[in-house]
Amino acid sequence: MKVGFIGLGHLGRAIAKRLIDQGVELIVWNRTLSKAEEFAKETGTEVADSPANLINKVDRVFVIVFDSQASEEVIFGEKGLADGDIKGKTVIDMTTNHYTYAELAFGELRKMGAYYLDAPVLGSVIPAMKGELTVVVGGDKEKFEENKFLFEKFCKSIYYVGDAGKGSKAKLINNIVLGGIMDILAEAIAIAEKAGFDKETIINILNDGAGKSYILDVKKKKLLEEDFSTHFSVNLIYKDLHYAQDLIKNLGLFSFTTAAIKETYALAKKMGLGDLDFSAVYKVIKEDE
Ligand SMILES: NC(=O)c1ccc[n+]([C@@H]2O[C@H](COP(=O)([O-])OP(=O)(O)OC[C@H]3O[C@@H](n4cnc5c(N)ncnc54)[C@H](OP(=O)(O)O)[C@@H]3O)[C@@H](O)[C@H]2O)c1
Repeated sequence: MKVGFIGLGHLGRAIAKRLIDQGVELIVWNRTLSKAEEFAKETGTEVADSPANLINKVDRVFVIVFDSQASEEVIFGEKGLADGDIKGKTVIDMTTNHYTYAELAFGELRKMGAYYLDAPVLGSVIPAMKGELTVVVGGDKEKFEENKFLFEKFCKSIYYVGDAGKGSKAKLINNIVLGGIMDILAEAIAIAEKAGFDKETIINILNDGAGKSYILDVKKKKLLEEDFSTHFSVNLIYKDLHYAQDLIKNLGLFSFTTAAIKETYALAKKMGLGDLDFSAVYKVIKEDE
């Protein structure tokens, strides 16, 4: 059984590689074809020339692209999945989507006799390589159960949360926390350096104090060495915080914190840091002189 895989970005590529290492045979497609060809050369994977042709050869396909606009193009655009033989097939969308898009995609595919799982993932490139991601899935329970064996190949925690859209909501709520902790840690370290502390010392103090966290554990080295090569980009967290703000608005709530965090990443983007790892938000304070 071959499985389709669309989107070979930073995280997509790491998950695809993990699936192959776990014995899953993939057929891949990526908008920039050269990336798919390079991946195929490394792994011996088959490359499809369009999403429509890919779905003709498989029963299920993972999609993990930048945002909901990209997901819509891949699924419903020209030569998209819906242009192929999609009836009875399952689209497993791991993109961090706008939750209203996930609801819409589920409904549209249902009209075509196809299935949509809203399945965003928590964790990044290194956990993906180790099979330690978390996935939060919304959509048909039966289709979730049918595809659970694939999630087990790259996830340590698997949650089924109900209807399509709920997976995306859970993920966006998680990313308010993710973006916030990353931002506050980076700011605190940059402030401490300006106050005359050695960076490693302040990181260790924070790690023994209020800053102890998963984020500090995984980003400590990046902050120390100022190696902001991308695992999860500033552009992505900025997109997610926009989606989260829509959720907050549609619930009739407010969150000053989410707004402030989002604008800090906006500033990072304005400083030209958009394509770098989101830990580069450190530079917003560090380079403010
Ligand atoms: N990176 C992480 O740590 C992480 C963690 C959790 C969740 N996520 C989520 O996972 C998704 C992918 O993340 P990533 O880090 O792999 O992103 P990325 O490195 O920015 O890659 C984006 C992918 O989307 C494709 N794409 C963008 N616009 C497209 C369009 N209009 N049509 C078709 N394909 C398009 C890109 O194709 P090209 O190669 O042609 O540009 C590329 O394959 C995002 O929704 C992100 O929020 C990421």
